[in-house]
Amino acid sequence: MEPAADQSRMSDTVHVLNGPNLNLLGTREPGIYGAATLADVEALCRAEGAALGFEIHFRQTNSEGALVDFIQEARGARGIVLNAAAYTHTSVALRDAVAAVGVPTIEVHLSNVFAREAFRHHSFLSPVVRGVICGFGPQSYVLGLRALASLPPTP
Ligand code: DQA
Repeated sequence: MEPAADQSRMSDTVHVLNGPNLNLLGTREPGIYGAATLADVEALCRAEGAALGFEIHFRQTNSEGALVDFIQEARGARGIVLNAAAYTHTSVALRDAVAAVGVPTIEVHLSNVFAREAFRHHSFLSPVVRGVICGFGPQSYVLGLRALASLPPTP
């Protein structure tokens, strides 16, 4: 008799996706975004990912279409931690991509977008993600990874 399929086996891959201008972290408006570079954020995610048993795919692009492609490539993954940066506030295409892939997604922001300009208060992504974390600097990403780890297995 065939052994029963292992239903508890989930992908352990988590995609950490970053949008426009986040490649400039460290020098970009440090009063708002802090001194950490994107490489520092990546190192933090890799350390936390290792602790949680995740394989981290960490990527950044300045292009909206490339970010749509990255989200589509995450189909079947355990989760996505998404800092879509300015596209958060403008992009129906990103919202549709997140809704289409059906991967648990945590929207993260370094800054507290609700304490900033009114145009940052609206997110096209928030209605289709699992949850939102903002305002904790690079720790927002760490908390996003922990949030994914806390979710029950998806069928
Ligand atoms: C950001 C907040 C966005 O409003 C902004 O456009 C960014 C970065 C953040 O991480 O705080 O580029 O997503």
